[in-house]
Amino acid sequence: MKNILFVASEGVPFIKTGGLADVVGSLPKCIDSKYYDVRVILPKYVCMKQQWKDKLEYVTHFYMDFNWKNEYVGVLKAEIDGVKYYFIDNEMMFGGPTVYTSDALFEIRRYAFFSKAALSVLPLIDFRPDVIHCHDWQTGLIPVYLKERFQGNEFFRGIKSVMTIHNLKFQGKWSVNDVKDITGLPDYFFTSDKLEAFKDANLLKGGLVYADAITTVSKTYADEIKTEFYGENLDGLLRARSHDLRGIVNGIDYTDFNPETDKNIKYPYNAINFRKEKIKNKKALQQELGLEVDEKKMMIGIVSRLTDQKGFDLIAYIMDELCRDDAVQIVVLGTGEEQYENMFRHFDWKYNDKVSANIYYSEELSHKIYAASDAFLMPSLFEPCGLSQLMSLRYGTIPIVRETGGLKDTVEPYNEYESKGTGFSFTNYNAHEMLATIRYAEKIYYDKRREWNKMIDRAMAADFSWEVSAKAYQEMYDWLIG
Ligand code: ADP
Ligand code: GLC
Repeated sequence: MKNILFVASEGVPFIKTGGLADVVGSLPKCIDSKYYDVRVILPKYVCMKQQWKDKLEYVTHFYMDFNWKNEYVGVLKAEIDGVKYYFIDNEMMFGGPTVYTSDALFEIRRYAFFSKAALSVLPLIDFRPDVIHCHDWQTGLIPVYLKERFQGNEFFRGIKSVMTIHNLKFQGKWSVNDVKDITGLPDYFFTSDKLEAFKDANLLKGGLVYADAITTVSKTYADEIKTEFYGENLDGLLRARSHDLRGIVNGIDYTDFNPETDKNIKYPYNAINFRKEKIKNKKALQQELGLEVDEKKMMIGIVSRLTDQKGFDLIAYIMDELCRDDAVQIVVLGTGEEQYENMFRHFDWKYNDKVSANIYYSEELSHKIYAASDAFLMPSLFEPCGLSQLMSLRYGTIPIVRETGGLKDTVEPYNEYESKGTGFSFTNYNAHEMLATIRYAEKIYYDKRREWNKMIDRAMAADFSWEVSAKAYQEMYDWLIG
């Protein structure tokens, strides 16, 4: 049996702000449990839903030297679908009302604490991983600590680490002096070939330098991040480590996201009866959200964190033009940057029965939108993988995307001459190029319904379950373990 440990800042079903949680919650159970014992360590956030907090069992606690103090580390556990989860508890660190905060220094402190604690608990829970699989900057210190101090201890010797980049934009940066103080790492680590980048300490960079392998969540993003435009100032390092960098596309949980069994939607459907049944979900949602009830009207859904990554500048630019004629309805679900929240509120007010802005987080409404919409708009500036378009495909909702990162790898552009493709895409980050693509989609939707439905057939038949990608991870673990 090979032991694999996932360490991450969020994971479904316990706590989620975005796609990272979906991956951490769904990939471990798809890794072959005959050969791999995969366990997961997460922080125990006080803002977790009570329903999940009730599932946690106390394991042990200890005190750990951290940032000149002796800090409490509680350890809890739970088992879900055969996967063992452990939680690091410290209410000073994880006690706030939201998962993440806007205090960058505090974020560094709490995830440095988490990284050190995640390593320190391993002997106590008697789990010696062969590979520690780290996710995003919050766990970037793990490969560093592992090499720096823990390898000295027999228990940790030879443990390999993998760093997966879900989003290169977030790196955990702060002044070298403070980070030195917090982490207790000596000067040696704070040079430009290690943790330092452009005068700051950079936790993700530490992970990328010290991990034995690096992955990111699609092949195209793995290529893109080696370029200056997408590289977020780490492209040089990623080029240097390109032999250790692989792109493995994300999957989604085909049980949680299944239009036939989804408890969140009123009218379940499948690849055979969607022509009659899917539309009922659209009518129900139009009613629920106060949109004009017209089952013929093309509905475009958006479910997203509202950040500039996702291409909302393009949408802001053409929204009036898009809504001017009567062709489409837009349903938005998301939270994030105030400017985008207000932008959608404004258009909701202006185009009352055509636009519905739902500025909050709701698992239930997200599923209803995936099921009810005809198309799903995701014109990202960059997109490491993207899961929303995969959920849309699964629900027969045709994605309209910009050809970047995982969007390029997972949405096959419609080709009307060969009757191929699962969605619509455009190349340049340009608002009118996007609008022209939406107009083209409208044309197919209204004038060539049979073609549109055949596209739904292909979308629903596309397989983005974890099966293939879980094998790619297994191969990498085997290669690392040797
Ligand atoms: P990212 O991780 O960059 O946010 P992904 O497409 O990989 O983008 O994953 C986003 C995930 O978060 C999807 O599961 C999506 O349904 C979900 N999501 C985003 N915003 C909301 C929201 N306001 N309410 C419910 N789910 C949301
Ligand atoms: C990040 C990316 C998204 C990806 C997700 C899971 O949040 O923005 O593209 O799908 O992580 O890997």
